[in-house]
Amino acid sequence: MAQFTLPKNSKVQKGKHFAAAGAKQPRTFKVYRWNPDDGMNPRVDTYEVDLATCGPMVLDALIKIKNEIDPTLTFRRSCREGICGSCAMNMEGSNGLACTTSIEQLKGEVQITPLPHMEVVKDLVPDLTHVYAQYELIQPWLKTSSAAPSRERLQSPEDREKLDGLYECILCFCCSTSCPSYWWNSDRFLGPAILLQAYRWIADSRDEATGERLNELEDPYRLYRCHTIMNCANVCPKGLNPAKAIAETKKLIAERAA
Ligand code: SF4
Ligand code: SF4
Ligand code: FES
Repeated sequence: MAQFTLPKNSKVQKGKHFAAAGAKQPRTFKVYRWNPDDGMNPRVDTYEVDLATCGPMVLDALIKIKNEIDPTLTFRRSCREGICGSCAMNMEGSNGLACTTSIEQLKGEVQITPLPHMEVVKDLVPDLTHVYAQYELIQPWLKTSSAAPSRERLQSPEDREKLDGLYECILCFCCSTSCPSYWWNSDRFLGPAILLQAYRWIADSRDEATGERLNELEDPYRLYRCHTIMNCANVCPKGLNPAKAIAETKKLIAERAA
């Protein structure tokens, strides 16, 4: 049988342990650490946090660690209410938003790593350069060729409803980084987040570039690497269903070919 060994610099090392002396309600967090500037391997640091003096969410614990225990810990966050998408990370093996994931719902020691299968900038911060280049590719803005009206472009309530389940996407990329097809083909497959965004513009009654948008997606890799595994819909913290948007896009392409 073939034997594989990981290169030395990819092995995750045991890290530092930060105990919480005198904690009334201690809980252990094991957090992935990597600093591009120190030339060391990644490691997992262990922090004991006193939940008696901590807010209820995973992000509260990370903020407490950074403020009170270890200021070198790096992560992204902004809104603290599930709107900006910047605190997306992997907690206990599932992708989610640290600000809307309660510590209570996770059992035992809480393992926290960056979103899987992305380059890491530092600690829990993934490099979003590639996904944003893919986002740019789908031209996420209203495209029209007709003369501009004297006021806003109108849309019936029924047509507006067609954007429900799409416009709520916060581009957290929990879905794309849960998608096995995206893990292995992210160089060419656009992945569920970007494909949901692409469909958001295809489904918009005011957009006049549907044909052009479908042409851009009709490609064996960009769209058709989705094999309906459904991880994306299961993990989305906003309850959206990218797999459905992908299926609708495939249907439109099939219908126009018929
Ligand atoms: S349904 Fe498609 S996009 Fe969603 S996780 Fe599966 S393969 Fe990926
Ligand atoms: S579809 Fe859901 S999981 Fe995917 S980027 Fe949008 S909000 Fe995040
Ligand atoms: S901090 Fe904005 S979604 Fe979590």
